Amino acid sequence: MARITSAVFSSHIPAVGAAIDLGTTGNDYWSPVFQGFEYSKKWQADNVPDVIILVYNDHASAFDLRVVPTFGIGCSEEFESADEGWGPRPIPPVQGHPDLAWHIAQSVILDSFDMTICNDFKVDHGLTVPLSLMFEQSEAWPCRVIPFMVNVIQYPPPTGRRCFELGKALRKAVELFDEDLNVHIWGTGGMSHQLQYKRAGLINREWDLNFMNTLINDPEELTKITHPEYIREAGSEGIELVMWLIARAALGSQVDEKHRFYHVPASNTALGHLILEKAGS
Ligand code: DHB
Ligand code: FE
Repeated sequence: MARITSAVFSSHIPAVGAAIDLGTTGNDYWSPVFQGFEYSKKWQADNVPDVIILVYNDHASAFDLRVVPTFGIGCSEEFESADEGWGPRPIPPVQGHPDLAWHIAQSVILDSFDMTICNDFKVDHGLTVPLSLMFEQSEAWPCRVIPFMVNVIQYPPPTGRRCFELGKALRKAVELFDEDLNVHIWGTGGMSHQLQYKRAGLINREWDLNFMNTLINDPEELTKITHPEYIREAGSEGIELVMWLIARAALGSQVDEKHRFYHVPASNTALGHLILEKAGS
């Protein structure tokens, strides 16, 4: 059977992708950020899964106000990098896993989570920047990636509780897939950030660090956080953190922490990053 063995959590700051693409990762501003991913790259190279289910949000690149799926799953063979205004990133397309993706769609929909099945779309920085942080740039990504989208752009986004429950259904779906696949689950976005208006630049280190601790040790507790609390404490874009709850629930309760990193400044957000392994895997 397929099983989820590890989870990676990471901010998906577009300026980080630009630093990689423009070759400025070694400058004074960016090098502390990339140092935080040195261990991660080694760990990832030693732990290449068959498939990553990558929970992310699209930022009006593929989905805009014409269509806003609350939860979507990419079921195609391939997903190209979106043009976010300065040309598509110079990275390989992502190879999907249609059989597993369709299976997950069926399993979670029959479990009453009404996913939108998405086939023809391109992936933006929400998905591609974490891939670039964890893998060396090369001709092709070393494993398959299933895009798993969450609306956190247009009110109302899903609740943290709903995301957590969906993560559990996702774990069950993967374990019901009748092929021996090693699957990783990634949760992207966050941590505290607000990109606009008077509170632009908001960083709440204490709240973020507490979120990380609780995510590891008592994740269900985080399902009590309401939308107003995310926005008040973590800024309007801090709501991206609900996506971490999907990944955390999908991994299961007993975990080993492999790596933790938190850094400010990185563009307008606090960069948070965790690697967790399922205990005993
Ligand atoms: C930034 C962070 C994001 O998550 C995003 O989607 C866009 C911008 C930023 O910090 O600049
Ligand atoms: Fe974002």
